[in-house]
Amino acid sequence: MEHARHVLRALSVLLLALVVFVLGRTALVPKSYGLYGPYRHDNVAEQAGARPPLHRGAVACAECHGERATAVSAGAHARVSCEVCHGPAGRHVSGGEVIAAMSVDRSFTLCARCHRRILGRPDKFPQVVLEQHVHEQGASSGLEGKVCLECHDPHSPRL
Ligand code: HEC
Ligand code: HEC
Ligand code: HEC
Ligand code: HEC
Repeated sequence: MEHARHVLRALSVLLLALVVFVLGRTALVPKSYGLYGPYRHDNVAEQAGARPPLHRGAVACAECHGERATAVSAGAHARVSCEVCHGPAGRHVSGGEVIAAMSVDRSFTLCARCHRRILGRPDKFPQVVLEQHVHEQGASSGLEGKVCLECHDPHSPRL
């Protein structure tokens, strides 16, 4: 038993390391860590609370713009949400009150985003070579400004 002292010393160092590890971990690891997986669960609620959703879908617009919503849903743009063209509801209304004017983009670039002819687009999707289309249909101007609105109603675009 002459080496027992050495063994005990080694053991106590190990024990000390274990205690430091357990205390350190308890102090440093956040409370909700590991509740449902290897992440801090409280973070989910913190992120959600700090970033209220801005988009609310077309139903939110129908509350106040009912007539327009009906017109849109009867036309070719029925499946295009108001917010895609105008902007998120959250910048325009809050708690049922208008807080700021909604943006209205009248430029041809809005339409071009979806209808400019691009090789990769499915053939079935209505698309035009912009300059050529505007020219062929006899617009009063070239491809500029709000030329598309000369003939098309954005809320019911089929002629
Ligand atoms: C709480 C009611 C309310 C809701 C919800 C609402 N609006 Fe409005 N909106 C208004 C009012 C009021 C006006 C101002 C009417 C006016 O002066 O012509 C307006 C004006 C507008 C305008 C015209 C801006 C301009 O410069 O002429 C647009 C575009 C618009 N809203 C789009 C939307 C869209 C898109 C949504 C859904 C994301 C929406 N609104 C949701 C009440 C609402
Ligand atoms: C394809 C894009 C597009 C979609 C989808 C769309 N809008 Fe518009 N909206 C426009 C454009 C462009 C104008 C400007 C029209 C003009 O000046 O002739 C406009 C104008 C408006 C105006 C201003 C009224 C006026 O004529 O001055 C309101 C209000 C409005 N939109 C509400 C809506 C609502 C509500 C929806 C969904 C139900 C919607 N829009 C969907 C493109 C769109
Ligand atoms: C976010 C994408 C998007 C934007 C922006 C957009 N459109 Fe459309 N448009 C569509 C979709 C989707 C359809 C329906 C296509 C279908 O039925 O296959 C459509 C249909 C149409 C049609 C009917 C084509 C047909 O013969 O069936 C016309 C015309 C049209 N859009 C013109 C416009 C004009 C003008 C603008 C700009 C004011 C515009 N669009 C903005 C997505 C868009
Ligand atoms: C001078 C009138 C006029 C102007 C300006 C105009 N269009 Fe048209 N557009 C038409 C007519 C008419 C049709 C339907 C006849 C046809 O299919 O050729 C049409 C059809 C379309 C279609 C459906 C094509 C298809 O294959 O079904 C799309 C998409 C379209 N236009 C987008 C636009 C866009 C985007 C602009 C602006 C860059 C625009 N138009 C400007 C008159 C016009």
